[in-house]
Amino acid sequence: MTHVIVLGNEKGGSGKSTTAMHLIVALLKSGHKVGAIDLDLRQRSLTRYLENRKKFSELKGKEFDFPVVVEVEPSSLDSREASQQCETENLKNALMSLEGCAFVVIDCPGANTHLSRLAHLHADTIITPLNDSFVDFDLLARLHPETGKIAGPSLYSEMVWDARKRRAMTGVPGGIDWIVLRNRLSATRANNKKNMGDKLEDLSGRIGFRLARGFGDRVIYRELFPMGLTLLDLGGKGSPVRLSTMSHVTARLEIRSLVALLNLPQAEEVHEQAA
Ligand SMILES: Nc1ncnc2c1ncn2[C@@H]1O[C@H](COP(=O)(O)OP(=O)(O)OP(=O)(O)O)[C@@H](O)[C@H]1O
Ligand SMILES: [Mg+2]
Repeated sequence: MTHVIVLGNEKGGSGKSTTAMHLIVALLKSGHKVGAIDLDLRQRSLTRYLENRKKFSELKGKEFDFPVVVEVEPSSLDSREASQQCETENLKNALMSLEGCAFVVIDCPGANTHLSRLAHLHADTIITPLNDSFVDFDLLARLHPETGKIAGPSLYSEMVWDARKRRAMTGVPGGIDWIVLRNRLSATRANNKKNMGDKLEDLSGRIGFRLARGFGDRVIYRELFPMGLTLLDLGGKGSPVRLSTMSHVTARLEIRSLVALLNLPQAEEVHEQAA
């Protein structure tokens, strides 16, 4: 049984591709066969991240863990209906070809595309990274402008709600576990940070997601992309880059804490290896 993890948020730049890559490497390091699908067919950040990893590995003559990558072709058909049908088939075939994998990680674009909506239907776990800003929060829920109270769900949470409903109707056992992950958290005790935390706690019970501890705002995430490395590749004997600061060590703990929170099947193995 393959467990499908979808990284989704219609808001661009929230950390989907970065989180997808870290998750892929965490699962690979725990000894699992992992599949990867990049549905951001324009930016292809996850694909580029993995290509950088390949080049860096060749350059250094060092073996790195790699997922099985499957591409999903966009449709070039004119008719909307025919094009959507074609993309539906393409994603289904991609998932079928990854059936031997314990986990498949799908990175979605920061937009509401047909493929992104479809991926959410196939998800066992959805992870939504969210920048610590009420502009990003607005895609999850609307706030009353005067009282600041939650006035109702918004675009992205409605899409997840729809995916959950449609998934339940298919009769496939098990629902979709939805995790919201605060990203780029500031190190300071800012008011905004506290307000966001309070609002997200409130919202999680109402629309049914679990709130992850989150990732701090750290420049290392941006620096690792050109080498195709993750924080989990650093440190230890023969490490290509030193795990140098307390901030890096804390960042790794944050990633491990996300993996633990996911409660994935074969989780014990995942925890053991990641520790
Ligand atoms: N915790 C973090 N600290 C610092 N920078 C981060 C962090 N997470 C992500 N970034 C940086 O933020 C930018 C956006 O991240 P990323 O590309 O992962 O977002 P995305 O949600 O995939 O974007 P898009 O919607 O465009 O696909 C990148 O430059 C990335 O390196
Ligand atoms: Mg991306």
